[in-house]
Amino acid sequence: MTLSCIVTGGAGFIGSNFLHLLAEKRPDWRIVNLDALTYAGNLENLTAIEGRKNYTFVHGDICKTEDVERAFAAAGPKRVVVHFAAESHVDRSIQSGVPFVTTNVLGTQVLLDVARKQGVERFVHVSTDEVYGSLGDTGFFTEDTTIQPNSPYSASKAASDFLVRAAVHTHGFPGVTTRCSNNYGPYQFPEKLIPLMIANASEGKPLPVYGDGMNVRDWLYVVDHCEAILAVLEKGRIGEVYNIGGHNEYPNLFIVKTILKTLGQPESLIQYVKDRPGHDRRYAIDAAKIERELGWRPRYKFEEALPLTIRWYQSQGEWLQRIRNGAYRDYYARQYGS
Ligand code: NAD
Ligand code: TYD
Repeated sequence: MTLSCIVTGGAGFIGSNFLHLLAEKRPDWRIVNLDALTYAGNLENLTAIEGRKNYTFVHGDICKTEDVERAFAAAGPKRVVVHFAAESHVDRSIQSGVPFVTTNVLGTQVLLDVARKQGVERFVHVSTDEVYGSLGDTGFFTEDTTIQPNSPYSASKAASDFLVRAAVHTHGFPGVTTRCSNNYGPYQFPEKLIPLMIANASEGKPLPVYGDGMNVRDWLYVVDHCEAILAVLEKGRIGEVYNIGGHNEYPNLFIVKTILKTLGQPESLIQYVKDRPGHDRRYAIDAAKIERELGWRPRYKFEEALPLTIRWYQSQGEWLQRIRNGAYRDYYARQYGS
């Protein structure tokens, strides 16, 4: 019997990359994409697969039982779920936390309830290393690190992780959770550090760096993340958490300067702006468990994948312009005051 994969948030950054991966690596699977098309959801990311006969798009909200049920009705009886749908941007969560609690917490519970009632073979909950909080100068997050989220975004993701854990513990639900570090690559909405800096640098606009620019993130190319999720979906142990990361720690300033250099733009475009409130200092992932148990390893080095990403954005001028012309402008004005 054909396997159906219900993907939530498939029109977003990582979700659309995951759908491209499935279309290539698992061409016989039926794919159902449930997405509400918020500001971050863009069907243009999926033009390469939308005509396929085993792909169905369901426009719906994970907070609404009837919408989730429509997605399940579009799938066959043998099915799995990969749950990406979320409000995902820390700065937006600082401006307003309610949409984060609504989608990330309530939406995840609605999805779990429908999945439990209708039956699934596996449910992969895509979470983040940000639930662990912030590190000092040394050390790594392991799966046993205490959950200490610091932003409304990470707090809502931590709550959703606990709901998955509770479903496994209470109902024997086949949930598995992944916690990945910062992603970069094609189709990322240009509010996040790397695509925002590429877009601004390409246009000769100021690059807003928060605080001293020395906050550290652990960067992973999105294709590597998607391959890890597929490995967890197919081979991960139910009830487990798997950290995903590639040992690519860099301070923000290094990233920004590398982008400027690659694009032949001057460092004078860097503009230090007010720091993010509660700004986590450093993230770094220990991914030994997924490497050991599932044999996953990142394939891309930062030195090759960042230039790939920059070239992708340069070749997608119209995709970028259509996003930057829309409601995004209002957000940008609120966030950066211009
Ligand atoms: P994104 O913001 O680019 O995409 C989110 C998608 O979810 C969009 O298509 C949006 O339309 C959809 N969505 C939002 N609310 C919805 C709702 N109520 N119902 C249905 N669909 C809804 O996010 P992303 O960066 O692709 O992240 C995907 C997942 O991965 C998130 O759960 C995020 O927490 C997690 N994650 C992201 C990163 C990262 O670096 N981007 C790192 C680790 C984990
Ligand atoms: P971001 O891409 O928002 O991811 P996250 O906050 O989930 O890690 O930010 C990555 C880092 O870049 C973070 O330390 C904040 C910093 N940053 C800036 O300095 N300027 C910006 O305009 C943005 C969006 C982020």
